Amino acid sequence: MGKSVLITGGAGFIGSHFTEYLIQQYPDYEVRVLDALTYAGRRENLAAVEPHPRFTFIHGDVRDRQTVQQAMQGVHYVVHFAAETHVDRSILNPDAFITTDVYGTFIMLETARRVGVERFVHVSTDEVYGSAEQGAFTEQSPLQPSSPYAASKAGADLLAQAYYRTYGVPVLIVRPSNTFGPRQYPEKLIPFFTLRALHDEPLPLYGDGQQRRDWLYVIDHARAIDLVLHKGQVGEAYNIAGGNERANIEVSRLILHTLGKPESLIEFVKDRPGHDRRYALDDSKLRALGWQPQADFETALRETVLWYAQHREWWQPIVQEQLEYRKFVEQWYTQRQ
Ligand code: DAU
Repeated sequence: MGKSVLITGGAGFIGSHFTEYLIQQYPDYEVRVLDALTYAGRRENLAAVEPHPRFTFIHGDVRDRQTVQQAMQGVHYVVHFAAETHVDRSILNPDAFITTDVYGTFIMLETARRVGVERFVHVSTDEVYGSAEQGAFTEQSPLQPSSPYAASKAGADLLAQAYYRTYGVPVLIVRPSNTFGPRQYPEKLIPFFTLRALHDEPLPLYGDGQQRRDWLYVIDHARAIDLVLHKGQVGEAYNIAGGNERANIEVSRLILHTLGKPESLIEFVKDRPGHDRRYALDDSKLRALGWQPQADFETALRETVLWYAQHREWWQPIVQEQLEYRKFVEQWYTQRQ
């Protein structure tokens, strides 16, 4: 039977890929996107699905009870992506992280409780566990977030768990690792460094560049959420790992090689305060449901970098804002030490 799905933050990077994926995979689903269209949410990210008769766009904020109430009417499934997501921004301006990620999630859960939905997927992050000096975190590992962003996501994650235990809201939590692919806002490492390299500008690598992240291709991420939404056990959390742990300096070199630019563009700069050294997840619980990543990291990274090189019209309107914000970040970090 066809389901009605509400996707918050669907005009953002991962949300828009998931929206496209769901519409393609389920020909009888009705899909609604609720998005506040902040700096990172962009209507053009939904261009492929906008004309679709089963798609509806609602411009609104997850912190607005009335908007959420209306958007959730008649909905079977909720997938809640909407959040402020960039660690550097959270260090300079934490306010929006607390109001959107924590309070916004509270409004989403509270509305789901009142309206009554069949399943509610909360998109959390591996950053809630903090830095993994060795080994890999399981879903039972303690939440020890480092940045205001990670703490706001941990607050939302815990609220989602509480709404399941206290009110029986059918919550499922996913904790994905670093995601990459086309349409990611160019404040995150891969698109930011790609744009810098395209302009022959230095790539500002924090600290010694030896921090490690586990990279997950956005389509594999969408497939994992689809699986958890349909086959996951209510009340459970699922890690999503890319299986591609790399040091930041290795990723930077791969970007430069893809574009035929010299490694001398790498510039070591003042570190991000509270910078997590390494993220690593044990995803055996998700794999037991039948998921495994399909993308080959080097191939997917090359394709992503080339996508940015070939889609200047996508990033040209936003690059200036990002560069200005970035100057502000670097000044703040430098003056702090
Ligand atoms: O792990 C999942 C998380 O991944 C998500 O929950 C976050 O929303 C997402 O922003 C990302 O967090 P990171 O802080 O790991 O991502 P970011 O792309 O900002 O940075 C990746 C690594 O690259 C990190 O170690 C910091 C480093 N970096 C980043 C930038 C933007 C640099 O060295 N220089 C930079 O200019």
